[in-house]
Amino acid sequence: MSDSNGIGREWWKEAVVYQIYPRSFNDSDGDGVGDLQGIVERLDYLDDLGVDAVWLTPVYDSPLADYGYDVRDYRSILDEYGDVDDWERLRDGLHDRDIALIMDLVVNHTSDEHRWFQRSRRGVEPYADYYVWREGDPDDPPNNWESIFGGSAWSYDEVREAHYLHLFDEKQPDLDWTNPAVRAEVHDLMRWWLDRGVDGFRLDVINFISKAEGLPDGEPAPAATGSEHFINGPRMHEYLAELDREVLSNDDVFTIGEMPGTSVEQAREYVGEDGVLDVVFHFEHMDLDTGDEGPWDVREWALAELKETFTRWQEGLYPDGWNALYLNNHDQPRLVSRFGDEAHRVRSATMLATFIHTLRGTPFVYQGEEIGMTNVPFERPEAFADVETRNYIERALERDDVEGFDDIAEAVRYGSRDNARTPMQWSDAPEAGFTTGVPWLRVNPNYTEINVEAARRDPDSVWHYYRRVLALRREHPVLVYGRYELLLAEHPDVYAYLRTLDGALDGTLDDDGEHRRGARQVLVVLNFSDGASTVAIDDEVPSEQTELLLGNYERADEDRGPQPGPGDGSLDLGPYEARVYRLD
Ligand code: GLC
Repeated sequence: MSDSNGIGREWWKEAVVYQIYPRSFNDSDGDGVGDLQGIVERLDYLDDLGVDAVWLTPVYDSPLADYGYDVRDYRSILDEYGDVDDWERLRDGLHDRDIALIMDLVVNHTSDEHRWFQRSRRGVEPYADYYVWREGDPDDPPNNWESIFGGSAWSYDEVREAHYLHLFDEKQPDLDWTNPAVRAEVHDLMRWWLDRGVDGFRLDVINFISKAEGLPDGEPAPAATGSEHFINGPRMHEYLAELDREVLSNDDVFTIGEMPGTSVEQAREYVGEDGVLDVVFHFEHMDLDTGDEGPWDVREWALAELKETFTRWQEGLYPDGWNALYLNNHDQPRLVSRFGDEAHRVRSATMLATFIHTLRGTPFVYQGEEIGMTNVPFERPEAFADVETRNYIERALERDDVEGFDDIAEAVRYGSRDNARTPMQWSDAPEAGFTTGVPWLRVNPNYTEINVEAARRDPDSVWHYYRRVLALRREHPVLVYGRYELLLAEHPDVYAYLRTLDGALDGTLDDDGEHRRGARQVLVVLNFSDGASTVAIDDEVPSEQTELLLGNYERADEDRGPQPGPGDGSLDLGPYEARVYRLD
């Protein structure tokens, strides 16, 4: 974190972060797996897009049970991806372009192949208590907690003759954070990377590190029984304060906590005035289209719920907290297929881009989002590589009410994390230009149409729109710092809001009290429907002097002629239309 956490200007508030899943980004050596050199080859692409930071998902040595979220050695790079020299070339290439580098820090658990675990299971000191071990009958786990990936959160280790806790896969044993030596290891390895010039950390499931004392049974729950005892546990703030003292407070490091199951009230404690972290990834909007039984329990979502959720977070973290804004990452299906509409791919992708980039917070773009990549028509269970998906399929097929894959195919296709993990679509060349070999996960067959080369050729593409909306955000600090106010709360299809600079509260005033540049107030109007919508906004808009700053119908429909502005009465919006007006 930085000293002036909370209110005030910060580089990471003004940044747009681009998330790279290295395995699927670009393969430089034809082995079918993306690598660091492959990213280096695409640095000008990132620069052209206009991003300010890159978050790399894990590139450390790993047996890949969870594709890198199972770390075998925190201080070396997985062979398939390159080595520390390649990493340094990537870091320098980013820094030469003024792009910050954020590393993924996975310290709730390690791989079972990490030397700490290998020694721990043999009882070798000082590692014996690095993990959560409990003795007992092999067939009777110490409590009823369930893994996020399904099944018991405990496995029995024959070598140690004890159970160990794993909130994720059995190859991802949880570290025991009550042990000060474990915490000191984490501090050391963070310093090691900071000394090498990283600008931030995304802290993987960081709110799982503190477990309730005595590891009590949880209330039986449809998904992950026990989570009330391991999410945002009793010593969270103590551990974070220590991390701050030991590591973070000396640097202007951007810290992003991934925190499933966190409410806005809890988030305020993590990122508000006294918080240690800068932003948290919460999942409330990611849960809108699923029921109680977890990611495979798909249900319809309504715009009213999306508005309610985002409004609660926009207001709840104002003025002294900050949001992380995202609709996509490597764990989620593609945003167009989920919150947009594949039948209106370009319009809905650009409308959603307008949404994320005009809210108060730091936007995150996941690779491929900027060209409007979609979900994947996976045909067979074997087509999935992801451990969470595979576990689910395996367990579901054992159920009496499931006869075969067809019974669950729709939910799996909709929700699998593999939707986000197919290779980046660079061109219409074989394997989408991702590799000259055989890709580790099959390319989405729509790459012949949806790819970077085609998008860059077409001025009306999703890609060009991302460039425009990123540029707009840079030009108007009101889009970064402005206070958010919901309009038309009851409208079923249109999401509209104002962003307003309030001066001292947003830290954008010069010493003489003048705003530095750009608009002081903007209006954003988004049609989330595949039909036309008409809205009357004039009563709510204080000014008649409006100027259209950006719209996703602007270029393509030049023959539509000038549209009436919000001060003129009603606005007619086309399917998935987005408009951003300046009001002062
Ligand atoms: C986070 C990661 C996810 C991983 C899990 C366990 O949620 O984003 O990919 O499987 O943590 O590390």
